[in-house]
Amino acid sequence: MGAPYLNMIDPFGRTVSYLRVSVTDRCDFRCTYCMAENMTFLPRKDLLTLEELDRLCTVFIEKGVRKLRLTGGEPLVRKNILSLIRNLGRHLKTGALDELTLTTNGSQLGRFAGELAEAGIRRINVSLDTLDPEKFRAITRWGRFDQVMNGLAAAQRAGIDVKINMVALKGINDEELIPMLRWCGEQGFDLTYIETMPMGEIDTSRGDRFLSLADVRKHIETAFTLEETDYRTGGPARYCTVRESGRRVGFISPLSHNFCESCNRVRLTCTGTLYMCLGQEDAADLRAPLRASESNELLHRAIDAAIARKPRGHDFAVERLDKAAVQRHMSVTGG
Ligand code: 5AD
Ligand code: SF4
Repeated sequence: MGAPYLNMIDPFGRTVSYLRVSVTDRCDFRCTYCMAENMTFLPRKDLLTLEELDRLCTVFIEKGVRKLRLTGGEPLVRKNILSLIRNLGRHLKTGALDELTLTTNGSQLGRFAGELAEAGIRRINVSLDTLDPEKFRAITRWGRFDQVMNGLAAAQRAGIDVKINMVALKGINDEELIPMLRWCGEQGFDLTYIETMPMGEIDTSRGDRFLSLADVRKHIETAFTLEETDYRTGGPARYCTVRESGRRVGFISPLSHNFCESCNRVRLTCTGTLYMCLGQEDAADLRAPLRASESNELLHRAIDAAIARKPRGHDFAVERLDKAAVQRHMSVTGG
């Protein structure tokens, strides 16, 4: 597909080539660091249809997006999500898209892994903060550990590469930082540690739970040898190779190490709102231009205007962790 449109380049010269789409803000878990137990979700009537989401994604691909990640909430709880994934898979076949991937909590992988692989999904990120079933229940409130383990096994059988996301939480899973890396090595999974981020109000303190990944890295280096790599997945993580297992370990450290300089991504919600930065409130409505006309011209213009005001970066800070830097939860825009 010869792209008739110019690539998206922001005011800081960064090319936007990665779109993350939160296909639903709903989730079957209630992770304590992510959500409050009582959540108000976006009204269903405001949701874009799967056809509209496909059209929006396709416009972004025309504008130079090469990597698409579906997130949530939990993307696999959205009704008929597989039809969207299969449809988007056509862009992999034409070569317009390099990668179609997913961030999931794993709860639905048991049913969907085979079909995801058939649709062209090669890699997924699965959130897993502990290997202790009781702790898992405490962190996710509603999650079932064995269900996620079954889901991971199904992904392995389907030949999908798995990267585990682990949010490092002081007093909760700090004793598992090393065991988790060992387990991932045994399973053949990569692992990314994540610092807790002040997004949306929750019922507990994030400041009390914050662990700096600079410290986490020192800690795991007491047990493993990390070798620097220049491997990048297009996301914000820095990766090393774990010599003992040959797997990769990544660090997403928005608080202790700002990664905005190389930001190449924007985020779309299930209601058609485009967020140009994870850590800023500014957003652009794409639903109105999407619905106003059958041609994509208005959409292209709205996206260009949005990219022209992509901010330099977030201003999360450890001292301000207990006050949400943005009102929306991670589940609105996805990770
Ligand atoms: N801070 C850091 N990580 C979070 N996640 C969800 N909410 C937060 C938060 N406030 C994680 C999830 C998922 C990833 C996309 O982001 O565990 O793995
Ligand atoms: Fe759901 Fe992921 Fe948030 Fe947990 S972190 S509540 S699995 S969206």
